[in-house]
Amino acid sequence: MIGVLFVCTGNICRSPTAEGVFRAMAERDGLGTAFHVDSAGTYEGHVGEPPSREAVRAAARRGYDIAGLRARLVMPEDLRRFDHVLAMDRGHLRALRGMAPPGLRDKPRLFLATAPDLGLHDVADPWYGTVDDYERALNTIEAGCAALLNHLRASALTA
Ligand code: 4NP
Repeated sequence: MIGVLFVCTGNICRSPTAEGVFRAMAERDGLGTAFHVDSAGTYEGHVGEPPSREAVRAAARRGYDIAGLRARLVMPEDLRRFDHVLAMDRGHLRALRGMAPPGLRDKPRLFLATAPDLGLHDVADPWYGTVDDYERALNTIEAGCAALLNHLRASALTA
């Protein structure tokens, strides 16, 4: 199994959405058992909470069920446990590099690094935003997850 961890701030908007979308896309591809998918946040304020109502609604409108996910804090140990630790924006990348155990500082990567055609580094934070902000974040996350799955497919088939 290939471990994939998505990391944002609160683990209630962007990273749980990416977790749900990536898992659904992998399952659709017949690769559901090839990946261990999870998400976590750099900020403890929402630990234990489900994804935000607007994130749940936006995901549900496109057929993704993320309502059962619960927020947790990212830990240095996650950088050992997961094969791919993906930051939803550059702030999370800095935070992950700062907490990385010795030798693992280069392990975290930007989620959108495998989707260069999008011309984006960051998934914009929709928290406190409008329904449109959540839709835009979901557009970016769907495109990013499709590109990520393409990138990882070859290793998933041999893992
Ligand atoms: P997320 O959105 O990182 O996509 O889950 C946020 C959720 C909560 C906060 C910031 C961003 N917050 O500061 O509480």
